[in-house]
Amino acid sequence: MAEPLLEVAGLYKTYGSVPALRDVSFTLAEGGSLGIVGESGSGKTTTARIVLGLERADTGRVTVRGRDRSPRRRGRAERLRGAREVQIVFQDPLLSLDPRISPGAVLRETLRLHFPGTDHTRRIAQLLDQVGLGEREATGLPRQLSGGQRQRVAIARALAVEPSILILDEAVAALDVCVQAQILNLLADLREQTGTAYLFITHDLGVVSQAADHLIVMRHGQIVERGRTEQVLTEPRHPYTRLLLDSVPRPGWRPESIARARRDLPGPAG
Ligand SMILES: Nc1ncnc2c1ncn2[C@@H]1O[C@H](COP(=O)(O)OP(=O)(O)OP(=O)(O)O)[C@@H](O)[C@H]1O
Ligand SMILES: [Mg+2]
Repeated sequence: MAEPLLEVAGLYKTYGSVPALRDVSFTLAEGGSLGIVGESGSGKTTTARIVLGLERADTGRVTVRGRDRSPRRRGRAERLRGAREVQIVFQDPLLSLDPRISPGAVLRETLRLHFPGTDHTRRIAQLLDQVGLGEREATGLPRQLSGGQRQRVAIARALAVEPSILILDEAVAALDVCVQAQILNLLADLREQTGTAYLFITHDLGVVSQAADHLIVMRHGQIVERGRTEQVLTEPRHPYTRLLLDSVPRPGWRPESIARARRDLPGPAG
């Protein structure tokens, strides 16, 4: 088998007395797409932050194309190379956007950093168009944009870097269904054209079923189920995955019975 693009092996992370990750391992192939679902606090963002290098695991390894993704990068070239390996779009992009800089200027800055010496005007227009932002949004300030528009600025900025791996941490949650479909289609196209691989962290089982070939289900910092997305969603084996599926609102759905079933699930193992 070919070497995976991303390999995450045996991650453990504890915050004080809180075990946030317990033996998390998975791989992502070149051009692959892996969904991560699981309840709030199950360790999804922690996993993403460790893959990115924002945080260090207590034990375990993250490698990209067989090279350690150490959180300590020396020098500018090394940092830029690291940024082109993995980009992330977080749930709340207001925190990651400079409030004084317009989306157009953010994209220009990013492109200048990664691809110096060329004119980026057309690429900026293309990126804005791809995420469905117009001239007005491109020249405004982040606080003048809606949450969904800011989200799209963050997605455009990540795409501008042309990363090997793009992590979307609830990054399409705030988008209305039409824009969400546009972004998901864009990501699917880019995956085909460029081989970009995705890690899709989401609560939305509809989104993962559309966007991810493989799926892992996390609970209490552990992976409780994994497999091809369709298989996991149609033939869940773990009671928690079944509960997740039963929790999707639909006609006749009763929140009280879901809450009861959730209480009856076994707690974290040893
Ligand atoms: N910097 C931190 N300091 C202390 N505890 C943390 C920190 N970051 C995360 N945790 C804890 O680690 C656990 C996993 O958090 P994480 O953010 O990875 O969950 P998540 O699966 O992303 O949840 P959500 O779906 O709500 O985003 C939680 O118990 C959380 O409280
Ligand atoms: Mg999270």
